[in-house]
Amino acid sequence: PTGHVEDTRGRALRDLRISVTDRCNFRCVYCMPKEIFGRDYAFLPKASLLSFEEITRLTTIAAAHGIRKVRLTGGEPLLRKDIDKLVSMIKDVPTTDGTPLDVALTTNGSVLARKAQQLADAGLDRVTVSLDSVDEDTFRAMNDVDYSVRSVLDGIDAAHEAGLSPVKINMVVKKGMNDQDIVPMARHFKDTPYIVRFIEFMDVGTSNGWKLDEVVPSAEVIARINDEMPLEPASPNYSGEVAGRWRYTDGGGEIGVISSVTQAFCSTCTRARISADGKLFTCLFQAAGHDLRALLRGGCTDDEIATVMAHLWRARTDNYSERRGQETAKRQKIEMSYIGG
Ligand code: GTP
Ligand code: 5AD
Ligand code: SF4
Ligand code: SF4
Repeated sequence: PTGHVEDTRGRALRDLRISVTDRCNFRCVYCMPKEIFGRDYAFLPKASLLSFEEITRLTTIAAAHGIRKVRLTGGEPLLRKDIDKLVSMIKDVPTTDGTPLDVALTTNGSVLARKAQQLADAGLDRVTVSLDSVDEDTFRAMNDVDYSVRSVLDGIDAAHEAGLSPVKINMVVKKGMNDQDIVPMARHFKDTPYIVRFIEFMDVGTSNGWKLDEVVPSAEVIARINDEMPLEPASPNYSGEVAGRWRYTDGGGEIGVISSVTQAFCSTCTRARISADGKLFTCLFQAAGHDLRALLRGGCTDDEIATVMAHLWRARTDNYSERRGQETAKRQKIEMSYIGG
């Protein structure tokens, strides 16, 4: 039951995004708003989370189906105890072509300064750090827990120094909240080794109150930056790359735009996701996942789980972002903090 698998639209299974916890120490307004993720919010109990052994086992099975890249996400993945141990376990997973998996991690950067070296030593290849503004007041208003820009910048520098490069920086742009910081953000990271990516605010989950008029289209992001610091398009690093690349004409580096609202990239989507409690999702907008934890804990063999995984992928039809609209607005959706960024 192993080997390359393709879905109904001819898309191969290539990337696995694993959420290792649904908890986060930030309360970003577009992701975990305080009104909903308050003191009494029921996060997953520890026994519900996949163990490192279980995650590694699922990764091994997925790798036999041709996975090349693993991204650890959350919630905030660095809140999971001994996460560096998991990194080294995943790095040791055998692949179909013998090259080690590309292992990346998405983090809010709050404890990265302390953990970067340890993660690099464990074999982590790269990190992506979320940072929604370089303005202290705006950033505090967005993370809603009084976290400073400075501490995240220290984490970014530590990651770079530890060799977790190129460090990418994700800014979710929400109109009226941080769109005035698009150009300052670009300027701050121009002529540095860091790659800022501007992300269109998406309608994930049901708690962020998403409205289409809060989305700043990537075309506008590019136009605003280009007015002050001229840009030219750059070709993708690999086919199916999520971010559109642009480089400064004066050689000052590159930026990216992730346009899942105005220019959906479903046609090349090769990503499967596993939630912290072991459910497999073939799309960020799928209402319910398939319970792999029940198979793991119910005594299934690797072959049996591999067969289920292949079957789910082959049956996949997902293209939510291409069809976003009236009909999709009414759907039940899961939170990004649960399924993973
Ligand atoms: P690399 O190219 O490996 O650096 O990663 P990436 O470009 O996939 O970037 P990353 O994993 O940091 O994803 C950035 C953001 O893009 C996510 O936080 C999401 O907001 C969005 N995104 C990533 N994958 C998908 C997807 O499959 N569907 C949609 N709709 N959005 C996605
Ligand atoms: N729209 C776009 N991206 C989001 N993220 C979380 N919520 C949203 C949303 N509504 C992504 C961001 C962040 C990562 C952890 O999750 O990229 O950096
Ligand atoms: Fe936490 Fe990231 Fe969500 Fe912000 S966007 S609340 S840092 S998981
Ligand atoms: Fe992939 Fe679903 Fe995102 Fe489309 S909406 S790119 S199918 S995860």
